[in-house]
Amino acid sequence: MAKKLKKKVLNSFENRFDTAPLIVFSPGRINLIGEHTDYNEGFTFPAAINKGIVVALSKSNTEKSQIYAVDKKEAYEFTVQDIAPLENGGWRNYILGVVSELQKLGKKIGNFNAVFAGNIPSGAGMSSSAALENGFVLGLNELFGLQLSKKEMIFIAQKAEHNFVGVKCGIMDQFASMFGIKNSALFLDCRTVQADPYHIDLYEYKLMLINSNVKHDLSESAYNDRRAVCEKVSDILNVNALRDASKKDLDCIRQQISEEEYQKALYVINENLRVQQFSESIKKGDLVDLGDLLYQSHKGLSEHYKVSCSELDFLVNNTKENPNILGARMMGGGFGGCTINLILKSEYKAFKKEITKKFKERFKKECSIYSVKLADGTQLI
Ligand code: GLA
Repeated sequence: MAKKLKKKVLNSFENRFDTAPLIVFSPGRINLIGEHTDYNEGFTFPAAINKGIVVALSKSNTEKSQIYAVDKKEAYEFTVQDIAPLENGGWRNYILGVVSELQKLGKKIGNFNAVFAGNIPSGAGMSSSAALENGFVLGLNELFGLQLSKKEMIFIAQKAEHNFVGVKCGIMDQFASMFGIKNSALFLDCRTVQADPYHIDLYEYKLMLINSNVKHDLSESAYNDRRAVCEKVSDILNVNALRDASKKDLDCIRQQISEEEYQKALYVINENLRVQQFSESIKKGDLVDLGDLLYQSHKGLSEHYKVSCSELDFLVNNTKENPNILGARMMGGGFGGCTINLILKSEYKAFKKEITKKFKERFKKECSIYSVKLADGTQLI
């Protein structure tokens, strides 16, 4: 996969510029469980995947920087001396954000040229944005000898998203994309920002991603709203983050918050416990338990945290009658994107056919099915 992408990016680069570039592969991610727990300093269980973004970069010998997005066939020109977020800037803001955050740290960056392309379906909740940010931050670090650690780089990537894109995201996506390990998922503590890699063996089962191919409007403001609720509740509880709260604590302040806020905070507290249970069940190889936790997670996301949508609920509900599917849930920030399903390998084809048909009948549009491999993180190639 990455080979083809690399070739495409390199060809395009060579057509445009006459210097030899350095090339970075930066993967997207899935998340087994632990949604909206990262900005609550809790636990998550993501993994980098074998789909991602390839970026080719070299120093520019002119006064300007030029970027070309192969998939969108869009070019953008700017100078590093004059960087500000663009209104409706799309992909440009992720890159400008990275440059700006590097500059805020006093890092000297000259103008550069870059070309990139990817194979992560956009809007699928597989973090094409973190892949893009990480690809650029690692590439620029290398190109200008900035000597940043990978840890420093992911915080730069995250801040780019906060300040230039306007999404107050947690650290899960950037961490998973940067630090992914082949065949493993990362049991990530978002407070210490340390992870334990777990080798993932699902025996006769596998993961199936089903993309609803919808991305509902307002998902960004709804995301920031959720985060604000969590911060409000932890302020009232007088704790650093909901990571530090129990249901009992929450019950003590129930009268001080709305029912909606109570349900959302409770979701976070429960999801955090589920991630820890999930890690135990992986150790035991208890797939039934894993599946059950996925269903519980979806119920919480849909009914309490309220970040699902009818397409995602439909996809999850349609797995419930199938004894060969142990669990399913929406994945990522929500309001569209993918579900992640734990399915018997021998059932994959039949269910793919069945759900594709049912989805089309119900929503008059196609869903897409992917299987992914767990892969290494952002790297020079
Ligand atoms: C998005 C954010 C992450 C995380 C997830 C939900 O992907 O970028 O930081 O909060 O949503 O788990």
